[in-house]
Amino acid sequence: MKNTAATLLAQKQAGDRITMLTAYDYTTARIEDECGVNSILVGDSLGMVMLGYENTLPVTMEDMIHHTAAVSRGAKNAFVVADMPFMSYQTSVYDAVVNAGRLVKEGGAHAVKLEGGAEVCAQIKAIVDSSIPVVAHLGLTPQSVNAFGGFKVQGKTFERAKQIVDDAMKIQEAGACAVVLECVPAKLAEIITARLTIPTIGIGAGAGCDGQVLVYQDMLGLTTGHTPKFAKKFAEVGMLMRQGFTEYIKETKAGNFPAEEHTFAIDSDIIERIKAGE
Ligand code: KIV
Repeated sequence: MKNTAATLLAQKQAGDRITMLTAYDYTTARIEDECGVNSILVGDSLGMVMLGYENTLPVTMEDMIHHTAAVSRGAKNAFVVADMPFMSYQTSVYDAVVNAGRLVKEGGAHAVKLEGGAEVCAQIKAIVDSSIPVVAHLGLTPQSVNAFGGFKVQGKTFERAKQIVDDAMKIQEAGACAVVLECVPAKLAEIITARLTIPTIGIGAGAGCDGQVLVYQDMLGLTTGHTPKFAKKFAEVGMLMRQGFTEYIKETKAGNFPAEEHTFAIDSDIIERIKAGE
């Protein structure tokens, strides 16, 4: 069944938890889709996990369109949400609508995601008025890493917790179809989830959200170095890849690969004639 903004809302209403995973390429999107994930997020986290940047700030519209188009070709049923990269919507409402439109027209996205609360409500409303569903993103919004002074849990003081709750109400009023809550205390996410009619999708925000999202490299054990506390490892794919690559190198160097079954045969008389220089 095709997932849409409406099916995610129906899931919230039915208490059926929403599953969302990131993907950035055709093959991964196809596998996630075949496994039945409700939604695929083409996150600007691709800046780190696919392109090797330190954070999401250098990611461009061209990067997002390129990866979103690949994911869209692989996702048959999942609701494809594309991140709006840094400075593609903060600059003006006009830029926000034009760039959201490009992610849909050129990338095949079903919805866009942008970070922020009250300060981006005009952008959310204008994009939604252009018939493009918008997923909001509150709490730890990685595009504000320099303003936050690092990747830190948000909403631990009364003032900040209240601001996140108020922002959640405002983005809903502006027309957002769902909101990602990143790195906020679980009890705060529960309150927001109960107050909103739109679904909340948590990452580091506890089980009280209407759904969960994870960066697939984190949950498959592909990330090296620091992985966030909330990123449960569901498989050790990185280890399997290392085993496979190491074995390939070993067998190739030893001359054991390719074996006969990996080669193509030819009639021996043709070989004789070639050898004879015919
Ligand atoms: O870019 C991304 O992958 C995200 C998730 C962490 C929610 O925004």
